[in-house]
Amino acid sequence: MSRRLFIGLMGAAAVVALTGPAVAQNYPTKPITMIVPFAAGGPTDALARVIGQKMSEKLGQQIVVDNAAGAGGTIGVAKAARGAPDGYTVLFTHMGTLAVNIALYKSLPYDSQKDLVPVGLAGTNPMVLVTKKGFPAKDFKEFKDYVAANQKKVQYGMAGIGAASHLGGLMLNSMMKVEVLEIPYKGTGPALNDLVAGQFDYMVDQAVNVLAQIQAGNIKPLGVSTKKRLAQLPDVPTIDESGLPGYEVTIWNGLFAPKGTPEAIVTKLNAVLGEVLADEAVRKRLMDLAVDLPTKEEATPAALGAQLKASIDKWVPAVKAAGVQPE
Ligand code: MLT
Repeated sequence: MSRRLFIGLMGAAAVVALTGPAVAQNYPTKPITMIVPFAAGGPTDALARVIGQKMSEKLGQQIVVDNAAGAGGTIGVAKAARGAPDGYTVLFTHMGTLAVNIALYKSLPYDSQKDLVPVGLAGTNPMVLVTKKGFPAKDFKEFKDYVAANQKKVQYGMAGIGAASHLGGLMLNSMMKVEVLEIPYKGTGPALNDLVAGQFDYMVDQAVNVLAQIQAGNIKPLGVSTKKRLAQLPDVPTIDESGLPGYEVTIWNGLFAPKGTPEAIVTKLNAVLGEVLADEAVRKRLMDLAVDLPTKEEATPAALGAQLKASIDKWVPAVKAAGVQPE
């Protein structure tokens, strides 16, 4: 080997060392911003805070949640996609913002597969159809008949185009063959407050957000979005069994980073996320909220990338087939 080639190779090795494990060894040396693309107090925010708090204890640095809400989560995801790829900006979001909304916007300010790197899956959530307490239906059949007969005055709430609650609602409305007025919010946290106050009629939201208000008797659950009933709501039938066979919507949440974030940092964040999801107290808290936690195989960055692709392949044609026009 010539002396020049040898020196060149040594130089390349030094660069690899500085950008590889050496970077991750000291990381993090300052607080990390975790972008949540929905309002505080909603399901994405709640999960991000439970997980972020424990991750920050393990990393020895604060994780600061930035609720960059609006436009069905696209504002926050775009902010994360433009973030510095140094491990100090991460994104906690769900499949609505990365997969479903590809079918719902004529042009998105990011490409979820190219502008972000997957870090790890945080869990999958069932959804629940909930109505305001005074809604004149005691079960799904009565709900369906009432909505069909009152399409001009019934209102459903959702967290913007491409949100999980939008997907749950649009699939429900499309399968019930009804068109009702949509009330958009910056997240289902504020939407739930208004549903409890009786300001609109119904929404399909992640169980993690609505269980407490259902248990307090402040809203009515009329169906769950999974093929099996939920242990937390054993008396609530599935929507599928109640007269809309084939209705099934679940929402996965995951941690992402801007494209270009060093692989060693992604690996470290994935390992810490895994430790957090293995923590007994965190597991119990999330499982009580009906979150289905990832298996070891589902927990890798590559598995999250595959999950994202599978969701794009599944939901983009399904949403188009439901006849929703992109904005
Ligand atoms: C939220 O955190 O507010 C929700 O995930 C919104 C949604 O996607 O429905």
